[in-house]
Amino acid sequence: MAIAQTIAGNWKMFKGPGEAGTFVSELVQATRGNIAGLDVVVCPPATSLAAAVAAAAGGGIDVFAQTVHWADEGAFTGELSVGMLREIGVTGTLVGHSERRQLFGETDETTASRAVAALAGGLRVIACVGELEAERANNETEQVLERQVGALADAVSTSDGLTVAYEPVWAIGTGQTATAEQAQQAHAVIKRLLPVPVLYGGSVKPENATELLSMPDVDGALVGGASLDAASFAAICAAGSASS
Ligand code: PGA
Repeated sequence: MAIAQTIAGNWKMFKGPGEAGTFVSELVQATRGNIAGLDVVVCPPATSLAAAVAAAAGGGIDVFAQTVHWADEGAFTGELSVGMLREIGVTGTLVGHSERRQLFGETDETTASRAVAALAGGLRVIACVGELEAERANNETEQVLERQVGALADAVSTSDGLTVAYEPVWAIGTGQTATAEQAQQAHAVIKRLLPVPVLYGGSVKPENATELLSMPDVDGALVGGASLDAASFAAICAAGSASS
């Protein structure tokens, strides 16, 4: 495969600044020398970003936020701007994670607005998409991806710095992983709509990473639970490095 694999850890609401600094230092040690050609990213909660950036310095690991607002500044309580993130050394962000969509009212439109602003401001973006269990059961997966990815494709003027993460909602935090074939099929649909790297997310672990990452259109992984432990995240990075 021409492009390097990306292994990204989404910490969600885990690890404050102290723990984040220690963890990233451990991860730098654990991955030193074996992540050549691999794009390794951690996405800590907002208050831990600066500590993670400091610990990652020179270690080959990028620090991304979990979301970002589309405005430069303004009356948007609780939100952070692209400039604020860049000021502390953050180099990218997730947008449209299914937890943001399901619990905090994120839509295809707000997800696209966040992606557009982040890309324009020089941040890399991992935009998350994926169908619900009922949608897969009703054979609506392709239709859902067309809607979600279509909104992104219509909004962005450049795909430079843009990655999509396919995260079937039924596989997130459930221990139930999409099969490598299901992931490959969905990734091919996404790439037809938007030709960018596509990561798989949903219960990725050291035990299933190699098989998923070996699929031709799987360009990396977005890892939740298994990214919270340095040894298991480093093992997934090693799997990514082997299939790069
Ligand atoms: P999980 O989470 O690996 O714990 O399933 C993935 C995600 O939500 O990005």
